Amino acid sequence: MDTLASYDELPYDSLPLPETQPDFLAAVARLHGFDAPDPTRARILELGCAQGGNLIPLAWRWPQSECVGVELSRVQAERGTQFIQQLGISNVRIQHGDLADLPGDLGIFDYIIAHGVYSWVPPSVQQALLDVCHRHLSPHGMAYISFNVTAGWVPLQPLRNALIERTATDLPAPARYQQALRVLNELEAEWNDPVLRKEIAFLKTAAPSYLFHEYLADFNTPVSFGEFAMQLESHDLRYLGEAGPRHAVVELEDTWGLTPEGMAGRWQDAESALDEAHAIRFRRALIARADAPCAQPPQAGNLSHLAFYTDLQSDDEIDLENASEQRFINPAGNTFPVAQPAMKAAVMALSMAYPNALAYPDLLMAVRQVMAEFGASNPVDEALFRNALFQLVAAHGVMPCIRAGSAAGSPGEYPCAQTLARLQARSPGWMVSCLRHTTLDLDAAACKLLGLLDGSHTVDELDALMQATLAEMGVEQSLEHVSERTNQQMWLFARQGLLVK
Ligand SMILES: C[S@@+](CC[C@H](N)C(=O)[O-])C[C@H]1O[C@@H](n2cnc3c(N)ncnc32)[C@H](O)[C@@H]1O
Repeated sequence: MDTLASYDELPYDSLPLPETQPDFLAAVARLHGFDAPDPTRARILELGCAQGGNLIPLAWRWPQSECVGVELSRVQAERGTQFIQQLGISNVRIQHGDLADLPGDLGIFDYIIAHGVYSWVPPSVQQALLDVCHRHLSPHGMAYISFNVTAGWVPLQPLRNALIERTATDLPAPARYQQALRVLNELEAEWNDPVLRKEIAFLKTAAPSYLFHEYLADFNTPVSFGEFAMQLESHDLRYLGEAGPRHAVVELEDTWGLTPEGMAGRWQDAESALDEAHAIRFRRALIARADAPCAQPPQAGNLSHLAFYTDLQSDDEIDLENASEQRFINPAGNTFPVAQPAMKAAVMALSMAYPNALAYPDLLMAVRQVMAEFGASNPVDEALFRNALFQLVAAHGVMPCIRAGSAAGSPGEYPCAQTLARLQARSPGWMVSCLRHTTLDLDAAACKLLGLLDGSHTVDELDALMQATLAEMGVEQSLEHVSERTNQQMWLFARQGLLVK
């Protein structure tokens, strides 16, 4: 097969995926007692990388890494290649081709990423994907494979069946998507099942490519965790842990005398039970070669070797005296309840430091400082704190990484944005990716401003340029108003790590 028509016609939104960042994956691996390779100088392979919206920002962040993307849709692979040429970096390339037919000289990789591929390809390509991991992972390398899980998909299957039956398979993807939207309205009037109705409401506003590729595409084959683990075993691979957010973490009891393999078996059974109990729909599995050391369920004790970052806000005044539950919200709109006072102080300290990360000992020190500054009299109980941090890390309220580093710049006299961000801002079909591998959704004026930040204009000049730009867009505003807005935007860019230090 030369290309994939459905992905040519309705390209997948190709965005940075925070959970695939190798420094995050390495941190998750450490929580599981597994020592993964240094991401900053790693060889990284992404299978089904679309136009490279995830891979290119990783290559940009780590100039000493070597990144290869493989993509079967010719349109997407060519878009990515063109973007890389414009960006002018040489440590990343996107190869148009089938992951089931990779050239023999591709070499060995420390990280292999396959997001949104495994469940959406024919069985032969699923086998080929696992085979690529087996053949191309370095001895301590890690693969990330996401897949749909039977436990959560069985209740949704009637919706997929109805959408396939009631739409014309021979229509081009965009026209079929429009037809599917009309079918969703019909189904909403016909069906009472609350799970299906909730999904219909979600699909009506979801990205067209999501609806198409989950509900209309030829393949969406969910698998149980147990079956997936068996597939790994038959390819000489082993499960290492989960890179997705968890609201429950497996803790094994009575493990005395068990071999690491025996413990891993018990752990996998417990993971399967969790899927059923929580109707899990999607997993992001971390995988290693079968001859790599055996990983274990995550341990809170391993947190002390990591660094952390988060960007959380609360509308309420933070109570650092009492273990009263307070809700924090991240920019994606996910909420995280936090009760323990030291953990609330940690969220405050980390959100202040964002996008920089704090290493565990520095975080503990910052917690004590915040508590003292706000006059909180209770001492920090480190064991309780570590447990609260462990829960929040598992839920992705706080993200772990392996090195603190300091990344944030400030607007300064001649504001200058990263070349990648400026190119993304002026390229249709690309989203601006932030330092922490999230996406910044900017309006046309903000994109224009970001594109202008090449370090050659003073802040005053930028204000005047933006006033003229807005006028061209038909928006007349006073210089004072434009200046205030420009200043806010530039601090937002700084907070997202888009400005050069
Ligand atoms: C659902 S999209 C996911 C894209 C991207 N990984 C992401 O998560 O945003 C699946 C991608 O895999 C690509 N793909 C499907 N089969 C493939 C194959 N056999 N070889 C390489 N790429 C393939 C598709 O063209 C598409 O871009």
